[in-house]
Amino acid sequence: MQKEWYEIKGGKRLEGTVTISGAKNAAVAIIPAAILAGEACVLENLPFIQDVQSLKEILEELGVTVDYTDGGCMRINSSTLTTTKALSEAVSSMRASYYLLGALLGLCHEVELALPGGCVIGARPIDQHVKGMRALGAEVELDCDRNIVRARADKLVGAEIFFDVVSVGATINVMLAACMAEGMTVLSNVAKEPHVVDVANFLNMMGASVRGAGTDVIRITGKPRLHGCGYAIIPDQIETGTFMIAAAATAGDVIIKNVIPTHMEAVSAKLMESGARVIEGDDGRDFYLRVIMNERPRPINVKTLPYPGFPTDLQQPMMAYLCAANGLSTINETIFENRFNHVRELRRMGASISLKDASTARVKGINALRGAEIYASDLRAGASLIVAGLAASGTTCVHNIQFIDRGYEYLEKKLTALGAEISRKMK
Ligand code: EPZ
Repeated sequence: MQKEWYEIKGGKRLEGTVTISGAKNAAVAIIPAAILAGEACVLENLPFIQDVQSLKEILEELGVTVDYTDGGCMRINSSTLTTTKALSEAVSSMRASYYLLGALLGLCHEVELALPGGCVIGARPIDQHVKGMRALGAEVELDCDRNIVRARADKLVGAEIFFDVVSVGATINVMLAACMAEGMTVLSNVAKEPHVVDVANFLNMMGASVRGAGTDVIRITGKPRLHGCGYAIIPDQIETGTFMIAAAATAGDVIIKNVIPTHMEAVSAKLMESGARVIEGDDGRDFYLRVIMNERPRPINVKTLPYPGFPTDLQQPMMAYLCAANGLSTINETIFENRFNHVRELRRMGASISLKDASTARVKGINALRGAEIYASDLRAGASLIVAGLAASGTTCVHNIQFIDRGYEYLEKKLTALGAEISRKMK
């Protein structure tokens, strides 16, 4: 297989306008959720990224009919579904394939699924997903030797479920199954991320009754069947944040269009604390955020939290930005253990980062990062290294960009349009 990497000639101020794509983490849940319709759904504003392409292939392996173009539109018809066994390597290599558990259990009352891999960020258990499915009446068996989960139920019955941890994946997965359970399900201590709300809105468009998404408690009244619909995915909160941080890191002036500013409040607040100006606007067609930075960043402290707190998915890009701050910043990662794989790479660029413990990094700002050969270990670590390369002096080569392709649509094209010197190389 050909190896690809990004070569970035850093130090260029990002200027101009960029348009945000559909949200990856909404898309990767809504595509499996569309199975629940039992007929055709048409999804719009999907990002053209590897994770979406992989899910298309996984659905086709199940016999689902999928038509997809890079125009961001996907037609999914599950009336042709032939199997509830999803055991291919494509399934196990992608974490979001775990949404097939809720979708297939909900529609067919049985599923056999290869357990998810995905980004190497901590152990990432699925015990809360399993707890939820069992509460709905499913028998769930984990085959740890073969890395498979099997679930089946004669019928699913609504239940009251309190999640022990706030989990995006478990909230969505149990919501999917509960849509077709008999009676009411009440989910407490749920995740409130924008993509949880987007999935709930999509389910309601299919005829489900999901109330309260975006608050701590979601109530779902099960329906015997759902129906097809058309639905447009929300803009990507994390792509928006990545461009906001990249704008600030290059002392730039960037208008970021097709955003939902309220989703970005924690990020905007932290960037402003560090000296950036963040202006919200509405051009009559789209909401936008404009990020302007004219000074060296001031040091700040960042703690990741479930939404509406600062998102863990932007912790890594934020750290790259703070490497050149005017003093000592502290970053506390509370969602995932082992989400500091980018630290070693940033150090290769001259960053001064010490790990106080497994969840706390101290970043002592230096004048500027310098270009280096660096390696992405996961998607957002990759985004962090891109931010670092854009801000650094000299040339940076970011390797392992297959991780970045999983989640960022047309990244080099968008950055080039903003004045960055970034090109995809291969050998
Ligand atoms: C989702 O992962 C996102 N992935 C992640 O984005 C994101 O980082 C994460 O939510 C947090 O916002 C997708 O949406 C596909 P969790 P998920 O369940 O659902 C623990 C990216 O870069 N936990 O909210 O897997 C878990 O270990 C990706 O775009 C349990 O203990 O995350 C973690 O500490 C990476 N038991 C915490 O909860 C469970 O059963 C939150 O995880 C489930 C989770």
